[in-house]
Amino acid sequence: MKLSWMSIGLVASLSRGIEAQQTRRDVPRDQLQYDVNYFDQKINHFPDSEIYTKSNLSHGTFSQRYYFDDTYYKPGGPVYLYISGETSGPSRFSNLQTGIIQILMEATNGLGVILENRYYGQSYPFSTSTTDELLFLTTNQTIADNAYFAQNAVFPGIDCDLTAPGTPWILYGGSLAGAQTALSIKVYGDVLYAGIASSAPINVAVGYPEWYNTIQKYAPQDCITRINGIVDNFDLLIAKNLTSAVKEFKALFGLGVLTDDRDFAAAIADPIGNPGFYHSSTWQELNWNSTYGSRDFFYFCGNVSDIDAPEEITQVDYLFANYTNGVPWVGLGSYANYVKSYVLELCPSGDYNSNDCWGTQNASAWASIENTSTRSYLYTSCIEQGAYIEGPKEGPALLSRVVDTSYEQQWCTWAFPAGVSNSIPPTPDIDAYNNFGSFNFSADRLAFIDGDQDVWNDLCYHSNFAPPRTASTDLHPEYLITGAGHHWDSYGILDVEAEPQFIREAHRWQIKTVNRWLRKFDGWKKSQKS
Ligand SMILES: *[C@@H]1O[C@H](CO)[C@@H](O)[C@H](O)[C@H]1NC(C)=O
Ligand SMILES: *[C@@H]1O[C@H](CO)[C@@H](O)[C@H](O)[C@H]1NC(C)=O
Ligand SMILES: *[C@@H]1O[C@H](CO)[C@@H](O)[C@H](O)[C@H]1NC(C)=O
Ligand SMILES: *[C@@H]1O[C@H](CO)[C@@H](O)[C@H](O)[C@H]1NC(C)=O
Ligand SMILES: *[C@@H]1O[C@H](CO)[C@@H](O)[C@H](O)[C@H]1NC(C)=O
Ligand SMILES: *[C@@H]1O[C@H](CO)[C@@H](O)[C@H](O)[C@H]1NC(C)=O
Ligand SMILES: *[C@@H]1O[C@H](CO)[C@@H](O)[C@H](O)[C@H]1NC(C)=O
Ligand SMILES: *[C@@H]1O[C@H](CO)[C@@H](O)[C@H](O)[C@H]1NC(C)=O
Ligand SMILES: *[C@@H]1O[C@H](CO)[C@@H](O)[C@H](O)[C@H]1NC(C)=O
Repeated sequence: MKLSWMSIGLVASLSRGIEAQQTRRDVPRDQLQYDVNYFDQKINHFPDSEIYTKSNLSHGTFSQRYYFDDTYYKPGGPVYLYISGETSGPSRFSNLQTGIIQILMEATNGLGVILENRYYGQSYPFSTSTTDELLFLTTNQTIADNAYFAQNAVFPGIDCDLTAPGTPWILYGGSLAGAQTALSIKVYGDVLYAGIASSAPINVAVGYPEWYNTIQKYAPQDCITRINGIVDNFDLLIAKNLTSAVKEFKALFGLGVLTDDRDFAAAIADPIGNPGFYHSSTWQELNWNSTYGSRDFFYFCGNVSDIDAPEEITQVDYLFANYTNGVPWVGLGSYANYVKSYVLELCPSGDYNSNDCWGTQNASAWASIENTSTRSYLYTSCIEQGAYIEGPKEGPALLSRVVDTSYEQQWCTWAFPAGVSNSIPPTPDIDAYNNFGSFNFSADRLAFIDGDQDVWNDLCYHSNFAPPRTASTDLHPEYLITGAGHHWDSYGILDVEAEPQFIREAHRWQIKTVNRWLRKFDGWKKSQKS
């Protein structure tokens, strides 16, 4: 199951649950493990803010996990803080082993460190996650964690003081963590020297139907137009309240038990991606290197547009033709067959209408107060980030229009009943988040790097809705990687020159950018002191 925000796709799920072991220098880099360290983090960084102090939980500290790699470190080198975002610290190890942090460490004699986000992995302040206990899971607290950590971190085995601002701390984050990187540099630029924000959503909206635009535009068009036609026809059945036809249609996909039309719509969109959770490897799980991704999306599309599908499958295209003036629903048989053959099995319990598959209408399942990353991530969406994936308001659809923002908002309501000192807003307070700058976001020594084939790109610096980006400077650098998906620059293969050129040049640009900044560090440090 994947959160549809982040690309915690394949690599993450493989390494999930790996416990840190002794760092061994003789193992290949891609298998390096790191010792766990614990940082005493403040639960509340804002003792003067009534938002937090009205809670009786706003005192004290919690243990925040961190992991570091000093393989390349030489005294005088920078510290790279990898912002862990909405998943556990260990599931981010690849960034130190072979990814962007490895690339930058090697190029600059740096040290790399991963700080696990509060309320993820094992870095929970409380033993459960009630609405009251989640009060301290805000972007403001998270970015304050980064600054406080940089000012106080110790690295066992390393003799020198590597704290900020005396040492250059350079942040890197992808996706939600990219936005946290941008915000950290903007708010704590006197402590944190620089940052690279990759595929960072800096301008969020409550609903995000544009998630599908990239796929609509770049995926194989024979497949896409077939799905568009089928979704249009399904929406027609709904609009005409043809309930028995809708029922028959669901059964065709083996999903007759999904009584809620939106759950069904999300389920058949699983191979493409859908709101909240999906089980398939979708467009978002593609990668420039197959080691880190999966081409399942293209297999799905290959099935939907298969010119050699057997007759018993293509015949299904005519099943509902009498609702569309005799016109067949081209690709329906192949689509339904793919879902039945390859998607349903991704629900291990076989209970398709349960919360761990596609059924999302069981309110009490949402109300569980157990600490989980899913719950923490949902909370953040509900209070400040929104970006609920929904069907399109206009134009062709890959997800049925029955799915709108009320679908996900309902989960928020079920999951987070009002507590004593905290309650969620009726709709995410995206203004507070966008007030950091939105598409005009800017901070010194903050680089934005995006991919034009990223499903999240329309929330990012290089969004189609943002002003044209024509003035990159050393202080405000930016780069749009052509042909790249969601923070594809995070991945590396221990040889930049051997990478495909679109990634290679992005990495070379990142190395140059960081080196330019480092050359100016001494001057910055002096100006900070005066
Ligand atoms: C905080 O207040 C709540 C509600 O009044 C109470 O149930 C809880 O025990 C208190 N917790 C602490 C740590 O004092
Ligand atoms: C919160 O729950 C997580 C996982 O459910 C667990 O690992 C963690 O120890 C819990 N946190 C605390 C402080 O008990
Ligand atoms: C977050 O902090 C900023 C100051 O850095 C403040 O302006 C803003 O109101 C805070 N947002 C919330 C939701 O507390
Ligand atoms: C749709 O059909 C169902 C059952 O056939 C009926 O109960 C319901 O009232 C209809 N809804 C509308 C909006 O016509
Ligand atoms: C259909 O999907 C399966 C499973 O991914 C794949 O093995 C097969 O090659 C696909 N068929 C076509 C025609 O793309
Ligand atoms: C289409 O055919 C089905 C049976 O195959 C029938 O139940 C349905 O009423 C027909 N619909 C229309 C619009 O003719
Ligand atoms: C709803 O969720 C609760 C809590 O997980 C579970 O005990 C119950 O069996 C679920 N109900 C249904 C109908 O699945
Ligand atoms: C960005 O800045 C421009 C020019 O100052 C202004 O016109 C525009 O409204 C700003 N946009 C946002 C989203 O703040
Ligand atoms: C993909 O990654 C593997 C493992 O690092 C590497 O051996 C291979 O050459 C890479 N392929 C491409 C096309 O970069």
